[in-house]
Amino acid sequence: MRRPIMAGNWKMYKTPSETSAFFEIFRPLVADAAHVDVVVCPPFVNLPAASVAARETHIQIGAQNLHWAKEGAYTGEVSAGMLRAVGCQWVIVAHSERRQYFGETEETAFKKICAALDTGLKPIYCVGELLHERESDKTHAVLARQFHDCAGKLTPEQFRGIAIAYEPCWAIGTGKVATPEIASDAHAFIREQAREGFGTAAAEACRILYGGSVKPDNIGGLMAEDQIDGALVGGASLDPVSFAAIVNF
Ligand code: PGA
Repeated sequence: MRRPIMAGNWKMYKTPSETSAFFEIFRPLVADAAHVDVVVCPPFVNLPAASVAARETHIQIGAQNLHWAKEGAYTGEVSAGMLRAVGCQWVIVAHSERRQYFGETEETAFKKICAALDTGLKPIYCVGELLHERESDKTHAVLARQFHDCAGKLTPEQFRGIAIAYEPCWAIGTGKVATPEIASDAHAFIREQAREGFGTAAAEACRILYGGSVKPDNIGGLMAEDQIDGALVGGASLDPVSFAAIVNF
């Protein structure tokens, strides 16, 4: 049995005071969800407020990106050590918006995952195909490349430390959720890549989240699939009541 992860990706939304207000409502609503890893990933500037608000709860805090260097002349960047210092336990790596708008590649994602693991952060490595790739029957080829050119290069020990999020780009922010069957097929394919690279036990232990228009009314159908171990939630994680409904699906 893989422990579910419900992670909220706030993207570029909310200020520190809005973060604190979110947690006031969210905390009691998820107080009984001890069987799930509940992770909130706000923008960098909100991480201290989120960490304070999550103190003495089982809610965990994550960042949405990091730089691979420990420190240095990298204007505008934030290191894994800095994230740890403000209470982060998780970090999202290679979200499709970072791939599409900010030049993230498998190569940079690999360096980020290594830096995160070295510092004790748990990476959530995002993969997923574009609409035209799905329509031209390239989904498996894309997922295989994204897996092998990044996660597949990790050591077995490193691989045990990551989670993977399958997020088909055509489902992100569009309201068009993948059907449980489509998501399940992609997850099984990713797990097969993990099995080939790292063996059955590592593949079976790997938590693979689905992301893309997850809402309170579709989470139940997704989580009914054996292959789906949780969700990476964008829009619906901004509202404490709706994200709590997803956590408590
Ligand atoms: P969405 O975003 O839930 O708003 O579709 C998901 C994500 O980008 O992680």
